[in-house]
Amino acid sequence: MGSQVKTLGVLTSGGDAPGMNAAIRAVVRTALGAGINVKGIRRGYLGLMEEDIIDMDSRSVSDIIQRGGTVLYTARLPEFSKSEVQDQGAEICRKHGIDGLVVIGGDGSFKGAAALAKRGINTVGLPGTIDLDIACTDYTIGFDTAVNTAMQTIDKVRDTSTSHERCSIIEVMGRNAGFIALWSGIANGAEEILIVERYDYDEQRIINSIIEKRQKGKKHYIIINAEGVGDSNGMAKRIQAATGMETRATIIGHAQRGGSPTAIDRVYASAMGCYAVDLLHNGASNRIVAYKEGKIVDFDIQEALAMTKDIDQFLYDASVRLSIR
Ligand code: ADP
Ligand code: F6P
Repeated sequence: MGSQVKTLGVLTSGGDAPGMNAAIRAVVRTALGAGINVKGIRRGYLGLMEEDIIDMDSRSVSDIIQRGGTVLYTARLPEFSKSEVQDQGAEICRKHGIDGLVVIGGDGSFKGAAALAKRGINTVGLPGTIDLDIACTDYTIGFDTAVNTAMQTIDKVRDTSTSHERCSIIEVMGRNAGFIALWSGIANGAEEILIVERYDYDEQRIINSIIEKRQKGKKHYIIINAEGVGDSNGMAKRIQAATGMETRATIIGHAQRGGSPTAIDRVYASAMGCYAVDLLHNGASNRIVAYKEGKIVDFDIQEALAMTKDIDQFLYDASVRLSIR
């Protein structure tokens, strides 16, 4: 099938993620290489509705592959779930000659992309979120960088935790998904990893374990707590009171969303950006680009949104076995 697309728009939506710039760069350069004009829509669907739309050339994406954040800015516009706003959004695309659109974001952003596809704008989604919580894909843009940022921070907290012989509760991001917590917990050799998908809220078991380990001479106790479980400060107070071990809570927060992307995030985001433009160039629409079993593939948006995924049970069991509780 020949290209249906003459002018392609690209936007980033929802929480930013390191590697989004690499994806934007790949989309712009692949499209230009195929003779397709590119417009950048700033601040996600909010910028679309406000017609904050700029022309992009090859130079406009120079020197960004190594930068965190998104040069197109991002935003959340809850009203974009309304049908009349989506009608208007599609009209604005048409007004600016945008007949193809690459949406870089998470599930919410893909719902917006599907709505525009239904209204005649060819759309393709790229999975951009540090949370890894997109069911159809084993990889999301930003996850690798976020885990590495968390890991490096936890290493530092561990040093001071050991010096003071403290218990440290370190809270990592992930909305309701425990992927960052599980990965950084394993990478840092944490004693406990608390994630909504598996935590039984048995704080007494943790308290007993701390007391026992202390008696055996253990100098620190690292608990990685997922954002979805939360209450790290309350937990620290309760654990200190019950164990007598000084306990501090550290919430890493948005540092995990920024920073220079890792090689994995730069390379996969670049490859996915190229793939997205190829899809549109070949006349596809309403697709999400994904990484499955070592290959870049694509899915129908509705089918992808209906999928579910859980954390890897083997990985979770391994984390428990390695923590020598
Ligand atoms: P993510 O894309 O990371 O899941 P959000 O859930 O914050 O992030 O969604 C990002 C944006 O996508 C929202 O601010 C909104 O503009 C749009 N969006 C979310 N849900 C829908 C929906 N049901 N229909 C259309 N657009 C949506
Ligand atoms: O989806 C990415 C994420 O960082 C989540 O891990 C977190 O729950 C959320 O976004 C925080 O969003 P914000 O602070 O930007 O509103």
